[in-house]
Amino acid sequence: MAANKTLLILPGDGIGVEVMTQVRRIVDWFDKRRAVGFDILEHPVGGAAYDAHGTPLSDEALSEAMNADAVLLGAVGGPQYDNVPRDKRPEAGLLKLRKEMDLFANLRPAMVFDALVDASTLKREVVEGLDILILRELTAGVYFGEPRGIEVLADGTRRAIDTQAYTENEIRRIADVAFEMAAKRGNKVHSVEKANVMETGVFWREVVTALHREKFSQVELHHMYADNCAMQLVRNPKQFDIIVTDNLFGDILSDCAAMLTGSLGMLPSASLGAEDETGRRHALYEPVHGSAPDIAGQDKANPLATILSYAMMLRYSFGLLDDADLVEKAVQNVLGAGIRTGDIVGPGMKAVSCSQMGDAVLAELDKLAA
Ligand code: IPM
Ligand code: MG
Repeated sequence: MAANKTLLILPGDGIGVEVMTQVRRIVDWFDKRRAVGFDILEHPVGGAAYDAHGTPLSDEALSEAMNADAVLLGAVGGPQYDNVPRDKRPEAGLLKLRKEMDLFANLRPAMVFDALVDASTLKREVVEGLDILILRELTAGVYFGEPRGIEVLADGTRRAIDTQAYTENEIRRIADVAFEMAAKRGNKVHSVEKANVMETGVFWREVVTALHREKFSQVELHHMYADNCAMQLVRNPKQFDIIVTDNLFGDILSDCAAMLTGSLGMLPSASLGAEDETGRRHALYEPVHGSAPDIAGQDKANPLATILSYAMMLRYSFGLLDDADLVEKAVQNVLGAGIRTGDIVGPGMKAVSCSQMGDAVLAELDKLAA
């Protein structure tokens, strides 16, 4: 029998803990039914790790993440950490994890489930059948550029600096993923930057265009400014198939795309590194939503984004396509049956709790597997 795969679970803060509890039940469900199970490790991350160890990412958690076959993360952050120094803040733990694992390719699919068409704040005809993928560069750009900081000038004026920087290779490798994936989807890529204002935008466009000409001329390529893209996402999102963009624009545009689907609570994500010689790659899966301190600890959160992140893990890290389909089908059926958490509840429906949503997905898995 093949050795078990290791799965590192990092629940994090706020609703991260609650949604992960539900995902654990689903992981267990699969574990009981498969020859190859997971060895599961768990660590605090973010604020929880800061509280426990004085750092948002302990060395031990980082080294286990580097060795794990996949990492599943809930969410980090909370207002109680607002005054903690930046390098100790919960977000710093997540950024360090992304950087150290070199997870440069962040996949954020935005799919509208049929049952949820009316949960979107946009008109039905605008979002019905929507299936787009935002590919966000995750380990460079203004999130990591140096110099950065707040300084005092000679005349006493204070000034803050962030640096947006991209190397050719950093752009090329994310564009390469976009074009490769386009071939398996709608064969269309929108590359998004601000070439009208930013040097990195001009360079981004140049590098993407060159790679397209060299290797992927059969893929339809469009260039779009980020502000226009934000507008087009709410005007006519179905014009897009894959959007590839930098770290900051990707952060913003993916929140925007998330709402097309009805709720941030529905969006999964995968962050992938490069493949090594053996075909193995670092991978971290997490919902796009944050720790939602306003509803944390009340068993109200929507666990579906994290459950769908688990499905992405089965697909991308373990090639378990049927199992991934099964999870997604279960979610679809649960939504189809009108079972909704508060964020996606429709008129005349009663909202279920986070754990009841977990119950419903498990019951559906039982049914589908019977
Ligand atoms: C995201 C989040 C993070 C980011 C925060 C929590 C650091 O908003 O994953 O989109 O800005 O990347
Ligand atoms: Mg974000």
